[in-house]
Amino acid sequence: MDRYAVMGNPIGHSLSPLIHKAFAEETNQLLLYSSILVEAGEFPLEVSRFFAAGGKGLNITVPFKKEAWELADNLSAEANLAGAVNTLLKDQEGKLQGHNTDGLGLIRDIKSNYNCIIEGKKILVMGAGGATRGILLPLLRERPESVCIVNRTLSKAEELAQLFSKYGAVSACGYDELSAGEAKKMDWIINASSASLQGELPPMPGNILSSDAVCYDLMYAQDETVFCQWAQGAGAMKVMNGLGMLVEQAAESFYLWRGIRPTTQKIIQGLRK
Ligand code: ATR
Repeated sequence: MDRYAVMGNPIGHSLSPLIHKAFAEETNQLLLYSSILVEAGEFPLEVSRFFAAGGKGLNITVPFKKEAWELADNLSAEANLAGAVNTLLKDQEGKLQGHNTDGLGLIRDIKSNYNCIIEGKKILVMGAGGATRGILLPLLRERPESVCIVNRTLSKAEELAQLFSKYGAVSACGYDELSAGEAKKMDWIINASSASLQGELPPMPGNILSSDAVCYDLMYAQDETVFCQWAQGAGAMKVMNGLGMLVEQAAESFYLWRGIRPTTQKIIQGLRK
């Protein structure tokens, strides 16, 4: 049977085995998907071991996405710019291909599951770390009016704005520059900072949202994140968390490996429950 796995550390919490098992059942694909705990320093060895033993594809999670990017022989445009790889496979010549499906998963969740559009919208992305880097190219391809990256450390936001400037109108600012002026109201706020992980909320002004604004936290949790709570209070029309993105990025990986696209709605609903 074709073998797939997710590698990371820690890995016990990963929902990927459950999601890919459901995809395989739904699409009648015979495959095995497991999780592999990898120790620091062992990642390249584990990857070559996995493929040498006939493994077909890997998902890569924290903290190895950058190492996977370094290891890949060829990179997709998304992975190259993201500086991170979450999906590995071998091509017909035996070369290791690296992809990043995180941003594609976000866009698919927004468009297919929530029927929302990015085109022509004013977007604020919070955070300027790996998560932001991973979503910027797919986001800009949707042709928003503008994307502003807001970050505690302004220089990091400026670096990313510079890096992605050839793909669309991207700017950078600090939280103190977010004002309540009409012209600066946002149609979308995407929280790609890791603040939610620590239960923290970056200093957001209360009246920054346009009248039909949508807020999306890339993080998901059993309880509503502090950002989602803030968004509700600030009057967002829709508030979403990253569970749909998690399933959609997995579906993109599955498609890369198997050439078949699983449906995702039922799994997302099941996980939400
Ligand atoms: P990830 O891979 O999850 O993006 P990261 O690369 O460490 O993680 O980046 C985390 C991002 O969240 C950074 O932009 C960080 O801001 P700084 O660059 O100023 O450190 C942001 N972040 C983390 N905690 C935050 C908080 N409490 N308030 C605001 N921003 C925060």
